Amino acid sequence: MLLIVGGAGYIGSHMVKYLLQKGERVVVLDNFATGHRGALAGGVLEQGDLRDPETLNRVFRAYDIECVFHFAAFIFAGESMRDPAKYYDNNVLGCLRLMEAMRQHGVSQIIFSSTAAVYGEPVEVPIPETHPQNPTNTYGETKRVMEGMLRWYGQAYGVRSMALRYFNAAGADPDGELGEDHRPEEHLIPLTLFAALGRRESISVFGTDYDTPDGSCIRDYVHVWDLCEAHYLALQRLRAGAPSDVYNLGNGQGYSVLEVIRTAEQVVGKPIPTVYAPRRSGDPARLVASSEKAQRELGWRPRYPQLETMIEHAYQWFVKHPNGYE
Ligand SMILES: NC(=O)c1ccc[n+]([C@@H]2O[C@H](COP(=O)([O-])OP(=O)(O)OC[C@H]3O[C@@H](n4cnc5c(N)ncnc54)[C@H](O)[C@@H]3O)[C@@H](O)[C@H]2O)c1
Repeated sequence: MLLIVGGAGYIGSHMVKYLLQKGERVVVLDNFATGHRGALAGGVLEQGDLRDPETLNRVFRAYDIECVFHFAAFIFAGESMRDPAKYYDNNVLGCLRLMEAMRQHGVSQIIFSSTAAVYGEPVEVPIPETHPQNPTNTYGETKRVMEGMLRWYGQAYGVRSMALRYFNAAGADPDGELGEDHRPEEHLIPLTLFAALGRRESISVFGTDYDTPDGSCIRDYVHVWDLCEAHYLALQRLRAGAPSDVYNLGNGQGYSVLEVIRTAEQVVGKPIPTVYAPRRSGDPARLVASSEKAQRELGWRPRYPQLETMIEHAYQWFVKHPNGYE
């Protein structure tokens, strides 16, 4: 049995569907802090909080867990600066409780959702896994601490982990069943599509004077289904007995904010109201992953690397779900 912690969230819910399609047995632990019941494509649901040792004991006693997929965290960099306690509590304490439960119940494999935010301001682009880690926000810092926890638990207690550092997850289930429903939404592609659909007035471009071809920031987007594939390949690697490792997951090609808006305009077939605003502090000009290691060692080949496909899949879900998961 595979335990998907945070399986009712955006990426976790796609993972559940992906694993079920592969014939795996899954149990989801989620407290619905930011997840949705409607996002659960199947598997067994255990409702509860990751930080509650009793809940974890109950779940680990009830199922024979082979590997944990840990998606449950708070994810907003801006909020993490205003309220770091909320992030240390849910992300760091949650991870500690989970690792303790795994240790007590003899579960020794975990696949962890990390982030590009562990790197901070890039000194080298594309960013390799060996890049220095100087997170510039509390969110990234909590993920850095959690990765450290996996590493030290690995050395001391033999837990084997795969820490997957995603850049910007994007798109939606190619079948159109699942999508992205963050509240509030802070990601560029959904916000751009909301502006197209009249769910917000406009999309803002923060800074057009960066040292990039069109002057707007460049980011790396990776399709959510490709992320799932990478997790599955990481699971195969753990099953084959591989030691702990860390992988970037991006598509190696950056897209600028203006390119995202232009591509979205092509997908929706009309202009999207756009507002040009000054730079935001702390936004690096370019954040692009080197995913060469994941390609080489996991054999990962993103199936949907095109920005247009990511936007199309996201759009088809937003059109069919004007109120998200309700
Ligand atoms: N979305 C991205 O672009 C992105 C990029 C890099 C990394 N990540 C990481 O991927 C993971 C998933 O991101 P997402 O976008 O799917 O977020 P999400 O908010 O949609 O999903 C998180 C899920 O975890 C659950 N959860 C949170 N705290 C919990 C707790 N204490 N107990 C039980 N369940 C809890 C939520 O209810 C939700 O279902 C996060 O760890 C995030 O840091 C996401």
